[in-house]
Amino acid sequence: MKRKLVSMTLAVMMGLSLTACGSGGEDKPATDGANTAADDANSGADDAADDGAADDASTGGDSAEVANKDKPLVWFNRQPSNSSTGELDMAALSFNDNTYYVGFDANQGAELQGTMVKEYIETNIDKIDRNGDGVIGYVLAIGDIGHNDSIARTRGIRKALGTGVEKDGDINSDPVGTNTDGSASAVQDGSIEIGGKTYVVRELASQEMKNSAGATWDAATAGNAIGTWSSSFGDEIDVIASNNDGMGMSMFNAWSKDNEVPTFGYDANSDAVAAIAEGYGGTISQHADVQAYLTLRVLRNALDGVDIDAGIGTADEAGNVLSDDVFVYNEEQRSYYALNVAVTSENYQDFTDSTKIYEPVSKQLDATKSPSKKVWLNIYNASDNFLSSTYQPLLQNYDDILNLEVDYIGGDGQTESNITNRLGNPGQYDAFAINMVKTDNAASYTALLNQ
Ligand code: BGC
Repeated sequence: MKRKLVSMTLAVMMGLSLTACGSGGEDKPATDGANTAADDANSGADDAADDGAADDASTGGDSAEVANKDKPLVWFNRQPSNSSTGELDMAALSFNDNTYYVGFDANQGAELQGTMVKEYIETNIDKIDRNGDGVIGYVLAIGDIGHNDSIARTRGIRKALGTGVEKDGDINSDPVGTNTDGSASAVQDGSIEIGGKTYVVRELASQEMKNSAGATWDAATAGNAIGTWSSSFGDEIDVIASNNDGMGMSMFNAWSKDNEVPTFGYDANSDAVAAIAEGYGGTISQHADVQAYLTLRVLRNALDGVDIDAGIGTADEAGNVLSDDVFVYNEEQRSYYALNVAVTSENYQDFTDSTKIYEPVSKQLDATKSPSKKVWLNIYNASDNFLSSTYQPLLQNYDDILNLEVDYIGGDGQTESNITNRLGNPGQYDAFAINMVKTDNAASYTALLNQ
């Protein structure tokens, strides 16, 4: 009985702390939903109370007694959403009281990327139009037509360069295939006036870089595409834009470096940042160092039963804290978004190691208060450049600091089952971090946790 009381008190405290913190600083009224979920967690634990292990959700003992459906869950990098409409999958995002998404601000980053390209063109206008035809031609590598981050980046480029056309109230993000004559309907010719002269801006070609097995954001496919494009209209290509650095670097190495065509990517992977010294045009840091921290930190806080904002917007005991110029929390979407920074020839020296821990959140947690916990974490595609060369190494740096023992599972980038098959025994873990293949497929994972 006494144990039951302790357990209930903890659950109520957890509920309160969640209530207080979920707002990223603002006060939020306690909702029925929060209370019910907290009560559920509690009663799940109480079922097992008599054998003495009921209090674990927040105290750090053997996790076996917390129902999988009540364990902390973070989605990251691919936000549960409808891949056609972009609408958020709120059922997945609020699966339980301790469920969150961690990503970055896609619109802010997309705008930065578009502006970076536009400014480059303006500053380098005397040499950018390689064949002198008055048309600034660019090609665009699209990562995944059903991924809202990829869609935002395509829109950001088209918006900045004036090539976007409206579709359903937003800029059309469809690939055009080839458009050397400017007749495609998914884009239009833009124009840019520099020094009294007006240039046409044309999206000469764009394509989703998906390989035959179905993997998206595929760097090798982008390398092949630039080979095809350059052999038929290479002298018209003045700029290359890519939804990410993996594809951008593949195009740079295959063609644009030798031909001195500025290539712009996204992610600030170390190899892309280094390539800026060799003519790569620029990239965007999506602050993966902040995202990787947040991914594990929200789990840590939920496991410890402390305010979810601890070590995030509010300094923890060790002194870890993030300032509000590097992330935002959207309570309604239960989502943390890191903010982006443009990386160009001006500042790339500050970004040479993309796997370096972010100093303001680099302090070790005390293992007596945040004891070791087991986390199951998957990377949807073990060969994704950004996730494997930047994000996972960062997670591996943070897991020690946060006293989390993480099992990293690498998927094939094609099927959800390749990953879910390796979540055969969720009961072994205290918390889960999930990176889906397709943003529509959250239920493939939650179904396993609901069993
Ligand atoms: C990154 C891409 C990566 C994708 C995977 C994006 O945020 O920019 O490089 O391929 O995530 O989901």
